[in-house]
Amino acid sequence: MVSQTLRDARKYEEAMEKKIDSENRPGFHLAARVGWMNDPNGFSYYKGEYHLFYQYNPYDSHWGPMHWGHAVSKDLLHWEYLPAALAPDAEFDRDGCFSGSAAVLPDGRQLLIYTGVVRETQPDGSMRDVQTQCLAVGDGVDYEKYAGNPVLTKEDLPDNGSKFDFRDPKIWKTADGTYRCVVGNCTPERDGQILLFSSVDGFSWKYEKILAANNKRYGMMWECPDFFELDGKGVLLTSPMDMLPQGFEYHNGNGTLCLIGSYDKDSDTFTEEHNQAIDYGIDFYATQTLLTPDGRRVMIGWMQNWDTCNLHAPDQPWFGQMSLPRELSIRDGRLYQNPVRELENLRGEEVRHENVTFHDVIKLAGVEGRKVDMELTLRPADPKNIYHKFAVRFAQNDTYHTSVSFRPHESIVKIDRKFSGSRRAIIHQRRCQVHNKNGNIKMRIILDRFSVEVFVNDGEYVLSATLYTDLAAEGISFFADGDVTMDVVKYALSFTQENA
Ligand code: FRU
Repeated sequence: MVSQTLRDARKYEEAMEKKIDSENRPGFHLAARVGWMNDPNGFSYYKGEYHLFYQYNPYDSHWGPMHWGHAVSKDLLHWEYLPAALAPDAEFDRDGCFSGSAAVLPDGRQLLIYTGVVRETQPDGSMRDVQTQCLAVGDGVDYEKYAGNPVLTKEDLPDNGSKFDFRDPKIWKTADGTYRCVVGNCTPERDGQILLFSSVDGFSWKYEKILAANNKRYGMMWECPDFFELDGKGVLLTSPMDMLPQGFEYHNGNGTLCLIGSYDKDSDTFTEEHNQAIDYGIDFYATQTLLTPDGRRVMIGWMQNWDTCNLHAPDQPWFGQMSLPRELSIRDGRLYQNPVRELENLRGEEVRHENVTFHDVIKLAGVEGRKVDMELTLRPADPKNIYHKFAVRFAQNDTYHTSVSFRPHESIVKIDRKFSGSRRAIIHQRRCQVHNKNGNIKMRIILDRFSVEVFVNDGEYVLSATLYTDLAAEGISFFADGDVTMDVVKYALSFTQENA
């Protein structure tokens, strides 16, 4: 039974979507159908298609009553909107259907697990959101909320677990067909922890243990956890709130954290060995992963930043987009990310310039555009005299540009969108310290109208940022202080139904 609230949302989004010109949206990054989008939810493969749900307020381009928007794709790049999947229409989620995930049931139905939010008056008279975990079951389009909701409540928390911050369940099926789930939580002091739950049938859940605890190291409450094995390691991804910067890591306020360690399946013991930010740009939060049918671990995130996401004009018809889906791997103990290989199918015209030696500013024939996949391989023209700075500028015309620069002597890659058209004094720059050997570095830069994602050294570091520059600014130019030799391979990206 589709509730009136959900019917209203579906009618509204269908009508409003028609008013948004597709040229004014990203091409292959999923954006809100209309209104507001935050976290990716229920990122999964079901009945031959990828499903991506998202935190969604169709009625406003700002956060509000949380629904789940829904889209499907065959290649993770061409997305087709489906009707909104969940609305806050039940007594256990009347103040929001917050983030969650998806799995397949033995009978072939799709199981969604999400956080139900209910605002309740507390004994001291204050109003607080209480969070529980809830289920909905469906066929890939329509979902029915489970009669036994909520399935995890404050009764299932460890002694130090707060019922006010208990959210974002990420479910997975184990080899024996049972289910596991990690949920974000914190102590009464708001110190983050990730709880592990198990279930034989997906409906009845049992608390297992605290899988990882912050112990006041990385921010406060830990949101949107995900846990999986990759290349022989256990990997915990989470998005901590209120982080303090540490060196070049964790500069984003509400940021991202990847913990890599050993995982003993029998005792569910995760032993941390390494920590890093997931993304070093300006806009990235709330990751979620899936396993593709051919065994790739693919991650997507919300390409926004909670500190700047409320500064857009109220009449903007949509706000919020996802990052590119990224294939994950672990090399030398670090997380590597690269665009899903499906992106190569979108490559159109190729422009190649090899061994271009230059200093100062140059433009190269055929190198321009706002839907671009461009690989740059840089080296010093004279290995004994390494250049001081390299920069590539894009989304450029006389008024605007955004740049990615590299200083080999400091090993710093910097993204700078000061001149991207923003009229706000928000953070426009982010720096990241990378490995480089004597001025040799590779960068793959993906532009999709309103965003840039930079993959440094085959995915060792990634920097993502949104930019709302006038689409007429299509120029790309290169700058060097010192003599740089560069190879450029640039593809125009096209996303038509033919390459879907
Ligand atoms: C993270 C988050 C989640 C929550 C959702 C609400 O961005 O705060 O923890 O489920 O957004 O929209």
